[in-house]
Parts: sequence; C-alpha cells; structure tokens
Amino acid sequence: MKIWYSALVLLVFALAACGGGDKPKQSAAPAAPSPEEQMLAEGKGIGEVKSVELKTPLEAERVSRGKAIYDMKCSACHKLDDKRVVGPGWKNVTKNRKPEWIMNMITNVDVMLERDNEAQKLLELCLTRMPNQNVSIGDARDVLEFMRSNDGEK
Ligand code: HEC
Repeated sequence: MKIWYSALVLLVFALAACGGGDKPKQSAAPAAPSPEEQMLAEGKGIGEVKSVELKTPLEAERVSRGKAIYDMKCSACHKLDDKRVVGPGWKNVTKNRKPEWIMNMITNVDVMLERDNEAQKLLELCLTRMPNQNVSIGDARDVLEFMRSNDGEK
C-alpha cells in the first residue's frame, strides 16, 4: 500500500513538472526587432551613426574638408560622375542612400559588407571589398557634405 502511495505521489510530481505549468509565455508573438535590425530595415545601415542632421545651405567648411579627404583617400576608387572604377561613381549617391547609411558605409565598411543587403549588392557588382580607411565619424560627415555638393545641393 505504501509503495503504491509513493508511486502515485511521484507520478503526480512528474506530471506537474512536465505538464502545463511552464509553457513558454506569449512566445508565439514575434520578438520585437533589435535596434540594429530596425536600422538595417530603415536603410540606415549598421554602425555608430544612428541619425544625421542635414542643413541647408551646405556647410562650406565641411565641403572643402570633405573634398580634401576625397582627394587623398577615396579618389583612386571613386569618380564623381556615375562611372564605376573600382567602386561606384558618387553621382546621386546622396539621393539614393540615407545619410546614415553613407556614413556607416564609410566608417564601418566591414560590418556593412557582412550585414547590409545594399552593401552586399555593391560588393557583388564591384567584386572588390572597399577597405576600411580609418575615417573618423567627423571626417565621414565632411565627406557626406562634399557628396551633397557634388549632387548639386546648395
Ligand atoms: C580600394 C578602393 C576603394 C577606396 C580607396 C574607397 N572605396 Fe568606397 N567603395 C569601394 C568599393 C569596391 C565599393 C562597393 C562595395 C564593395 O564592393 O566593397 C565602395 C562603396 C562605397 C560607397 C557606397 C557607394 C554607393 O553607390 O552606394 C561609399 C559611400 C563609399 N564607398 C565611400 C568611400 C569613401 C568616403 C572613401 C574614402 C574615404 C572610399 N569609399 C574609398 C572601393 C573603395
């Protein structure tokens, strides 16, 4: 009799342990996208640059600093018209991409090439990985201003 009783108690515990009790709560609802996934989905790329404030008219000092950086570090691979050399020409890049995307591409190119769809498409097209040029966020912002000027903004 005692044995049966113990067996019954064990059975009850076993059922309680693997039965209903600990169903995952609400896990059927899809997890909210992480901030990174959200940035990627919004076409802002991935990296430190989360939002960029653009001013009109252009900031002349930035444009000229950006041009100097372009001449020194970018012009070997990027032309200012729409012709591809090693990388795509920069004409209209500021019309086709969000400013955050452009700055993340400049400052975080390795991760962009790994995680961002648009960057990956460019890699498939160009077949060369853009090297990390150790451009600071501030310098990337200057280059962005130069690109806006190249796209005809005033
Ligand atoms: C050695 C060649 C090379 C140099 C130097 C280079 N890039 Fe690139 N860049 C590329 C390639 C190639 C791509 C296309 C993506 C890929 O294949 O990695 C690219 C893509 C880009 C894009 C995206 C263009 C688009 O159409 O969306 C931007 C923006 C960019 N580069 C900015 C820069 C800046 C700014 C510099 C200088 C600080 C620079 N690159 C220097 C090769 C280069």
